[in-house]
Amino acid sequence: MKLLIEGGRRLQGRVRISGAKNSALVLIAASAISGGEVILDNVPKISDVLTQLEIVRAIGGRASWTGENTLCLDWSGPLEGELPYVHAKKLRASNLFLGALAARQKRVKIPLPGGCNIGSRPMDLHLKGFHLLGYQVSMKHGFIEARAGKIEGNRIYLDFPSVGATENIMMAAAGTPGITVIENAAREPEIVDLAGFLNAMGGRVRGAGTDVIKIEGVSEFRGARFSVIPDRIEAGTYLIAAGISGGEVTVENVITRHLQPVIAKLQDVGLDVAAGEDRITVRRRGDLLPTDVKTLPYPGFPTDLQSPMMALLSLARGTSIIVENVFENRFQVADELKRMGAKIRVKGQTAVIEGVERLYGTQVRATDLRAGAALLLAGLAAGGVTEILQAELIARGYEKVVEKLGALGAAVRVAGDESGEPGAKSV
Ligand code: UD1
Repeated sequence: MKLLIEGGRRLQGRVRISGAKNSALVLIAASAISGGEVILDNVPKISDVLTQLEIVRAIGGRASWTGENTLCLDWSGPLEGELPYVHAKKLRASNLFLGALAARQKRVKIPLPGGCNIGSRPMDLHLKGFHLLGYQVSMKHGFIEARAGKIEGNRIYLDFPSVGATENIMMAAAGTPGITVIENAAREPEIVDLAGFLNAMGGRVRGAGTDVIKIEGVSEFRGARFSVIPDRIEAGTYLIAAGISGGEVTVENVITRHLQPVIAKLQDVGLDVAAGEDRITVRRRGDLLPTDVKTLPYPGFPTDLQSPMMALLSLARGTSIIVENVFENRFQVADELKRMGAKIRVKGQTAVIEGVERLYGTQVRATDLRAGAALLLAGLAAGGVTEILQAELIARGYEKVVEKLGALGAAVRVAGDESGEPGAKSV
């Protein structure tokens, strides 16, 4: 799929933020633990969620949409303990079934997961946790298999506060007898959401949101109804869109405190930010100022907004530095932004961005989801038409992005596939 953007329009208006991709993906997997019916509200209809639902169905769960963003999951039937490679390779978050199925049936086999091409993304921390809980873990022929030996809660220290490892260990520990303590746990809002959901299903999890999480294993879970938190990354993307296009945008249905690290940086670049509890308005009043950004685990600046921020800083009056501390291969977008006229030098984990007066529309390629978002943002500010190839990657994480941007006044449309369909169609 291709996206065509006619740049140079100031965005103006309000946009409702969808449920968080990274929370929805883990809650869908975690719902398997219930052994019953779960209703999830505020689930974004994005392609990563649809892929996660294909996995649900392939292993014996049932999933249906009962409202625009309400999902009913039924896990009362028997389950397969093995995830199909064909679906799992599309999505890194398929690995979250490891913890969910371990909690439910103490034995699970998943293919080594796929996902965005942003680094090597090993699973050693997940597996260390399973090992310490008493699982026998083996990795061969492209599959990870975990089987319960004599399982019991344990103290698990993570060398790095990995989001996925924290989530998988929380889920497995929720169904493991005894008390598990995860130290140096990830503190992302999505972890707090998972803890709330596990507790709604009968689990006993405390401390989520701090770096020490305590989980008391229980033997029975039940169905529940739960609402997914708003997507702080989608919200950040629209706030940056306001800044890069020189307009004024209000994001609604957000949890403002989840966006504090982003708000601080937007103020550093000279944008006006007005924040209420569940809405934030960003307005550009003059030139964009340069700043330095370091990505870090929450509550640091999120790596998922690093590429969008790079697009913004490409147009600042001066030199900015971005240091990527979470993923080792997340600067691929720099080459594409350079094709649009940006001046960026990358060395290792550091990017130096010399702001330019303007960007120019040209043909570029989304190399991963957030790189795609960054190119979309650059296209909003660029002169002429920007054509983004592999734009289906953007649909992995942004619900109705063409409609939402269109409602704010952007000229974005979907074109045919890369074989070069001549007539672009509007959506
Ligand atoms: C999640 C998010 C992703 C976000 C990332 C960091 C989902 C579905 N995805 O990904 O959007 O960018 O958090 O906020 O929630 N690592 C290891 N060993 C491990 C696990 C991780 O070395 O066993 C490393 C990774 O290679 C990476 C870093 O830890 O360099 C962070 O990874 P992690 O926090 O696990 O990210 P994900 O859960 O994959």
